[in-house]
Amino acid sequence: MAIKRSSDPQPTPPQPRKSHKPRPNYEVTLLSPKANDRENEQNEDKIRPQKLADYIGQKDLKGILNIAIAAAKGRQEPLDHLLLYGPPGLGKTTMSLILAAEMGVNCKITSAPALERPRDITGLLVSLKPGDIIFIDEIHRLNHMTEELLYPAMEDFRLDVTIGKGQTAKTRSIPLPPFTLVGATTKAGALSSPLRDRFGIIQRLRFYELDELTAIVKRTAEIIKTSITESGAVEIARRSRGTPRIANRLLRRVRDYAEVQKADTIAEELAATAMELFDVDNKGLDWTDRLVLSTIIEQFNGGPVGLEAIAAATGEDRKTIEEVYEPYLLQNGYLSRTHRGRMVTDKTCQHLGYDVKSENRQTELF
Ligand code: ADE
Repeated sequence: MAIKRSSDPQPTPPQPRKSHKPRPNYEVTLLSPKANDRENEQNEDKIRPQKLADYIGQKDLKGILNIAIAAAKGRQEPLDHLLLYGPPGLGKTTMSLILAAEMGVNCKITSAPALERPRDITGLLVSLKPGDIIFIDEIHRLNHMTEELLYPAMEDFRLDVTIGKGQTAKTRSIPLPPFTLVGATTKAGALSSPLRDRFGIIQRLRFYELDELTAIVKRTAEIIKTSITESGAVEIARRSRGTPRIANRLLRRVRDYAEVQKADTIAEELAATAMELFDVDNKGLDWTDRLVLSTIIEQFNGGPVGLEAIAAATGEDRKTIEEVYEPYLLQNGYLSRTHRGRMVTDKTCQHLGYDVKSENRQTELF
């Protein structure tokens, strides 16, 4: 792939690797779609919508759940078990809490890594009240024993426990109240098929559109009592990688900036200036995104190059590149994955200020 730096001035020029600005220490928390810490989780709780009607976006999912709720209520039964999959930060936990509120039941939230021993899941199951919801995050990471306990629990509301050991061991069945399991995963393909088959509803959450994210930013601004203009909200939404959790996090940082600047409202220019300061560019790419992309261009001639080589050249953790950075870059056409490795695209070169001879890349790609 032939790439040379464009002579035109560009809004976000890449830095050659040696002259990259010092690595900022906030970049992983600011644009990471994962919940980063407890403080963030508590912040999220305050701004979560409580009702399906207040939940912005995911129109298809809401339609399906509205019907499921009405039908379950009509039959006075719990909701069917539900599997939600998709990238982190799109509202799986929020949706589970909303379902519980709409059904008038409790929602117990846990994650697969917290269900290490058999007694972790049995303790949770026996504490349920009729109709309750259990939310298990990262459900693809359940261990085999926990999964085996869940099968009869999900299918027949029955807990099969083994008492004693060896030849004297006996199995006892304990009836459970009817309940709903909501499983969440970023990797639906990693779920075993017996577990996947026990979910009555399987739904994907998708990245949010600009207008949906703008509405979320405005709604959150109102809850946290921050004044924001329409174009200020669009500016934040545009840099939020299709993810409400990131939009809300950026809004909080921009609000800090506005307060320090003694600005009484978040207008477009102020939002843009604040986010440039945080190194989030106008396409929602941060310092590490740009480092990864410009390294592929400058050191690997645009690719294809393997993940290991990118990790070694950038000094970033391989898993972090794969799980935090790559999904958005792939989804938005800044990176493509071929059987020979990762390649940048024309869009990447344009955005970062490199000239591309795309006819050369065609021969690389096909
Ligand atoms: N806050 C975070 N996600 C949201 C959503 N989907 N709708 C409304 N507010 C939100």
